[in-house]
Amino acid sequence: MIEPVNVFEFEAFARERIKANAWDYITGGAEDEITLRENRAAFERTFLRPRYLVDASQRDLSTNVLGTKIPFPLMLAPTAYQKFAHPEGECETARGAGALGIPMMLSTLATRTMEDVARAATSPLWYQLYMMKDKGVNEWLVRRAERNHFRAIVLTVDATFGANRERDRRNKLSFAQVHVENLLARTDDAPTAIIKAAHYEELAWKDDLTWRDVEWLRQKTKLPIVIKGLLTAEDAQLAFDHGAAAIVVSNHGGRQLDGAPASLDVLPEIADAVGARLEIYLDGGVRRGADILKAVALGARAVCIGRPYIWGLAADGARGVQRVIELLRDEFDTAMALTGKRSVSDLDKTMIWRRMN
Ligand SMILES: Cc1cc2nc3c(=O)[nH]c(=O)nc-3n(C[C@H](O)[C@H](O)[C@H](O)COP(=O)(O)O)c2cc1C
Repeated sequence: MIEPVNVFEFEAFARERIKANAWDYITGGAEDEITLRENRAAFERTFLRPRYLVDASQRDLSTNVLGTKIPFPLMLAPTAYQKFAHPEGECETARGAGALGIPMMLSTLATRTMEDVARAATSPLWYQLYMMKDKGVNEWLVRRAERNHFRAIVLTVDATFGANRERDRRNKLSFAQVHVENLLARTDDAPTAIIKAAHYEELAWKDDLTWRDVEWLRQKTKLPIVIKGLLTAEDAQLAFDHGAAAIVVSNHGGRQLDGAPASLDVLPEIADAVGARLEIYLDGGVRRGADILKAVALGARAVCIGRPYIWGLAADGARGVQRVIELLRDEFDTAMALTGKRSVSDLDKTMIWRRMN
């Protein structure tokens, strides 16, 4: 394999290795994919104001998330069904992230058990929760995450309803081949709802999720709670009021509400409202190290990537995941040097330039 020099080249390699309908599932967004494109466009219309004649020859890229030091401001967003991309699925992703000490969020719809992923992982794991109607199932998942040393619960709130993903409807995409291992009765203490459901799709999703459920979750666990999928200052404020430790500004990679704004565009209003009180992460459209710089300058503590590491995973397993992270790290370092910044704490909105029309 020719060594890809950027994440877009990984995308091209991955495409050749993934079945067409799984490719559409991974790549696509909802309806007209306006939000999907907008996530990228927002980065492309945001520019950097470099400062020169400052000594940025020595740089420290590290930062902290939820009290843990990480090598640079990047984490892996939770993505479902990674066996579509690689037979080892999420364990291979954990190995790639572990090689560089980058935190990984594991999806409720993972195709490897939390126990297996915890054994493969050497970097921090966070557990992404999709709530089910049956509280016993939610509690069981949280307990397993705790037992397996996951360090945070990431509650995704923008996917209580299935979105209209037309590529998947056209392809009649079936998930029968990929097993959502954590929603099967693989442990002795599995709740009745899990034992009864022959397939996870028979479990009732909590389509009436509210802030009361966040309160419930907070009472059930001491782990920090991260709310993923917020796009307004109002909801960010409510997340703070309900005891969240952090939020992920995200539109689910353009896969849920088409017509939602780009994450980067709404970041400043959210940072203004709660930046001093909550950790803010951002995902959606991050493809270059300079994108990390832009998001951090506009108020994110770190960014997450979704599709790019799936491309790495499909192209070359754990090594591909590792290479994608390394490429972004090296680009981020270059962008720091070229803008005259020595550390992440030097990044702020004065370094951002945007056209006024
Ligand atoms: C194939 C795929 C599956 C995803 N599955 C989940 C999921 O299970 N839970 C979740 O909270 N977000 C999920 N997401 C959304 C990602 O966590 C993240 O918000 C998004 O991918 C970021 O955008 P990017 O792909 O442009 O980096 C998924 C995204 C993709 C591409």
